[in-house]
Amino acid sequence: MIHLVLQEKLQQAVIALMPDADVSSVLVRPCPEPKFGDYQSNALMGLAKRDQLNPRELAAQVVEQLDVADCCEPVEIAGPGFLNFRLKTAALSDALVGAAKGEHLFYRTAAEPRTIVIDYSSPNVAKPMHVGHIRSTILGYTLARTFRLLGHRVVTDNHIGDWGMQFGKLLVGWKEHLDRDALGRDALAEMERLYKRVNTACDEDEVVLARARGELVKLQDGDAENLAIWHEMIELSRHQFDEIYGRLGVEFDETLGESFYNDRLKGVVDDLVAQGIAEESDGAQVVFFNNHKSLKKHPAIVQKSDGAANYTTTDLATLEHRQNSWQPSEVIYVTDGRQQLHFQQLFELYSRWKPGHGMKLNHAWFGAILGEDGKPFKTRSGEIIHLSGLLDEAEQRAFDAVSEKNPDLPDEERHDIARVVGIGAIKYADLSGNRQSDYVFSWDIMLALVGNTAPYLLYAVTRIRSIFRKLGDESLPRPGSFALGQAEELTLAKHLLRFGLVLELVIDECRPNYLCNYLYELAGYFASFYENCPVLQAEGDIRTQRLALCDLTGQVLKTGLETLGLETTERM
Ligand code: ARG
Repeated sequence: MIHLVLQEKLQQAVIALMPDADVSSVLVRPCPEPKFGDYQSNALMGLAKRDQLNPRELAAQVVEQLDVADCCEPVEIAGPGFLNFRLKTAALSDALVGAAKGEHLFYRTAAEPRTIVIDYSSPNVAKPMHVGHIRSTILGYTLARTFRLLGHRVVTDNHIGDWGMQFGKLLVGWKEHLDRDALGRDALAEMERLYKRVNTACDEDEVVLARARGELVKLQDGDAENLAIWHEMIELSRHQFDEIYGRLGVEFDETLGESFYNDRLKGVVDDLVAQGIAEESDGAQVVFFNNHKSLKKHPAIVQKSDGAANYTTTDLATLEHRQNSWQPSEVIYVTDGRQQLHFQQLFELYSRWKPGHGMKLNHAWFGAILGEDGKPFKTRSGEIIHLSGLLDEAEQRAFDAVSEKNPDLPDEERHDIARVVGIGAIKYADLSGNRQSDYVFSWDIMLALVGNTAPYLLYAVTRIRSIFRKLGDESLPRPGSFALGQAEELTLAKHLLRFGLVLELVIDECRPNYLCNYLYELAGYFASFYENCPVLQAEGDIRTQRLALCDLTGQVLKTGLETLGLETTERM
């Protein structure tokens, strides 16, 4: 939080000198080189450029206005105009004392909470969820939790694909080939089988394709039999999705699937036509982006020549509903990178339809998940990997590892640990990389006890817990100050203080990997502190202070991991 104090004071100093400056870009960030300081701002260079001032001179004037002597050593101007801040030990100590009293945990909740809608998971009915949906689910729910931790209001919405082309084929399959017993055993597998069977038949035989189209039209016209089958398919799918959400500990405020917007689609197209945004082209209604740099060659269809609306039309209606219902300041869509064009079109189109809507529209896309051979992640026979089997395997592998390490723990406890570690490992592997890079799914890497992994961090938590188990009933005294005499204590303390800044960066850029890296570093700083600074063997105030550092590290690790959606455990 101290960065916020520095940032506010820096903004005030800038305003005093340049009353009309936009200080929203005057930010304080961690200093990339600890030898130059703890925090840094590069904002003055941009401001100087705007007004054609000498950046170092501007920096000198700002520093003169800047009153941070109570928490920092004299501010240094570096290079072309960076400001470097180094915290005084007393300021660190004050922050730690407050945290040890439970007044804060190094972050501050937003003074002006915003409303954010987050669209994630969004699997398709009658198709199994695959590893791409898991990545969306895990990233999206982590973002939701981080926003909430910082005091924002979040509406999470699962935009299930429960309408559209696939149902024509599914209806033919259901009516002609359904195996009720198989449906009872594994509904999604049976629906997948039906879909594949009819899909192949459609490719080979136009008569079947025509039948599928016919069933779809009947469904859309409200045919009672088709609607009943459709409902049953949705129920069966939801059931299986919910099972997976339960295992992942993921929830949604809303589950408004595509079908929810069906009645509004015609109106959307009429609006776009009336406003001159969409125009007829070969019988379809199309929006052209002629003056747009990147979309010029990519017109968007909002109504096909057969009169049917599509994914884009549905998303327009969805966004309108979200704006009207919740007035969010930001809407975040979490899907894989292949949908980038779709969302660019959607955002541009929406801005034409509702000029001045004022929402930040954000596609937080992610890369592909690859197998260890570098090709898209599939089973050996080339099938897509189903989520539930993947979660089973994670738990099984973690169970084997725990059983090997701790054969004496009761069976039930080992199962519990295996669930926390196995599911945690999958989640953490998804979150810890740059989301826009492809990532290689590797059991060995994600379950390793060393490196930036879930098991490593969960183990760090258990080590801290074991310190407090040794302490027994002795209550934890609250230090009145922290001396931070050893280098490792100082490094650890400074890192703890950065927790809030990291959380803010996660929500600003939708990048949970910042939090993963932060926790990984925290565990490393803690390990060298614990190696070099006796805790239980220390005496007097030093012992009290070091115990408090252990406790605060444990709290930050736990809160950080929970924000990432990981449970923690007492033992491993
Ligand atoms: N159902 C889509 C899919 O599986 C994802 C939907 C994403 N959300 C949205 N509003 N378009 O690819």
